[in-house]
Amino acid sequence: MTFNIFSRLVVNWYHLSGRKNLPWQKDKTLYKVWVSEIMLQQTQVKTVIPYFNKFISQFPNLNSLNNADLNHILYLWSGLGYYKRAKNIYDTAKIIEKKFNGKFPKNILDLVKLPGIGKSTAGAILSFTLNYFCSVLDGNVKRILIRHYGIAQCLKNSITEKKLWNLIETITPIHNTGAFNQGIIDIGALICTPQVPKCDICPLNITCIAYKEKEWKKYSFQKKKKIKLKKQYWFVIIYFENKVWMQKNTITNIWNHLFCFPNFDKKKQAIEWIKKNQINTKKYKEMNSFNHEFSHLTMQATPILIKLCFHNHFFDTKQQGIWYNLKQPQKIGLPTLVKKILKLLI
Ligand code: ADE
Ligand code: SF4
Repeated sequence: MTFNIFSRLVVNWYHLSGRKNLPWQKDKTLYKVWVSEIMLQQTQVKTVIPYFNKFISQFPNLNSLNNADLNHILYLWSGLGYYKRAKNIYDTAKIIEKKFNGKFPKNILDLVKLPGIGKSTAGAILSFTLNYFCSVLDGNVKRILIRHYGIAQCLKNSITEKKLWNLIETITPIHNTGAFNQGIIDIGALICTPQVPKCDICPLNITCIAYKEKEWKKYSFQKKKKIKLKKQYWFVIIYFENKVWMQKNTITNIWNHLFCFPNFDKKKQAIEWIKKNQINTKKYKEMNSFNHEFSHLTMQATPILIKLCFHNHFFDTKQQGIWYNLKQPQKIGLPTLVKKILKLLI
């Protein structure tokens, strides 16, 4: 039997200092841990907490979620970003109802077939809830492995990925798997941070290669640097008696299934759309442009405001749109940028 010092250090550190009181760690169910793990993909714990609490108070179990309208799920997801995840949650609930009689599957091979659940998320769900023997390999874990074992990275990410999976599956302990997985995630999030890791207080510093070589920078996970694009968008706001016209967004896939003002990447198109809808173009007012940041994109937004004096029946025939009531808002998913514009109107 090999003496796996790494996993002992992690598990013991977890018992001493790991996080045990996060909202999804109390009264654990597969359902709640699944929701939390989807929310935690690409999003930090402190951002997720209020969203998770609100979501669970509305949808405490699979059955309640299964009866939910996609718009309501997106409403609760508004502001959290990566909205595909909300659609995945909605789709997964339907699949579980149909294929698994409404019972959350406990088999990793079933789990990884569900939308939005990869090997790592499946491992997290099963190990945190049931202490099953599965590994987790997210960004936090990768960073620790690369630094601790001094792993030289190949240019091809898929080769490094494979190496890291082999490694984590070798060192994951068969007992206390949940404690190990939570411990290594927590060390990655709280101690072995991307910038200036706190090696002095790290339980792994006695065996860590990056620490020994004083080289944490050399052993940092190298993501390909993406150049941030800049894009202009024009948002047409049709305003009538405390209501604004919104449509299901179709242009950019970042806002798939969310509602948005009609938007255009050229001013000329916006004006044409206004004309086409039988609105007097002399009445529009261009508001100040502002920047809105996405991880991959800076959006320069210019709202164009049109206040109607009478009800324009032309809009009633459109199926994909709604009159959003500013006084009694409907429960629908809105992008943060749309909420910013709404604040300017009220
Ligand atoms: N990131 C992914 N899963 C997590 C968890 N269970 N706790 C904290 N951060 C996480
Ligand atoms: Fe990371 Fe430093 Fe701990 Fe090594 S000793 S795992 S570099 S925090």
